[in-house]
Amino acid sequence: MFDYLNFKKLKSSINKLLIKSYMNKKSLNIEYLEYDSVNDMDSEELDLINKADDNLKNAYAPYSKFKVSAVCKMENGVVVKGTNQENGAYPSGLCAERVAIFAAKSQFPDKKVDKIVITTEETMLFPVSPCGACRQVLIEYELAQNQPIELIMKSGKSKVWKFKSVAAILPFAFDGAFLK
Ligand code: THU
Repeated sequence: MFDYLNFKKLKSSINKLLIKSYMNKKSLNIEYLEYDSVNDMDSEELDLINKADDNLKNAYAPYSKFKVSAVCKMENGVVVKGTNQENGAYPSGLCAERVAIFAAKSQFPDKKVDKIVITTEETMLFPVSPCGACRQVLIEYELAQNQPIELIMKSGKSKVWKFKSVAAILPFAFDGAFLK
């Protein structure tokens, strides 16, 4: 008679062996710079951070009361600003990062985005960091322009984080090129 239980046990130990022999443990290292204060930034970065902070008043966040500002510095020197825009039908709102980069790429479709600076007035332990959907939108343009977009983030009087690229905060990103 076929011994189903023993067969299952045998199958599972063979699988374990196979998995073991083909498994490699891998890890990623994400590099970023942390500045103690905005005063440690260079003058161009400080100017962009100030522009982002000044722009916080334009956020429309009556529901969360969490105001976020994002400014894109384009390769032609133009600064395009955005803030979060909420909606009574919650999912219809949009984060500051997407508002800013969509506006920037609508006005200057052929210009590269050099940097995006994201700030909130909220006092938090860490700088405000883009949500997953915004990361996906940002990496679309980074890949399309074939040049990294530098990210600078700050919350209230928090330390400042600087990442060299969107790819640094979105490893294993989905890329439209997969579709071709
Ligand atoms: N928000 C942004 O605009 N950017 C972020 O990086 C995080 C979250 C907005 C969305 C919503 O209007 C409010 O903050 C609370 O989630």
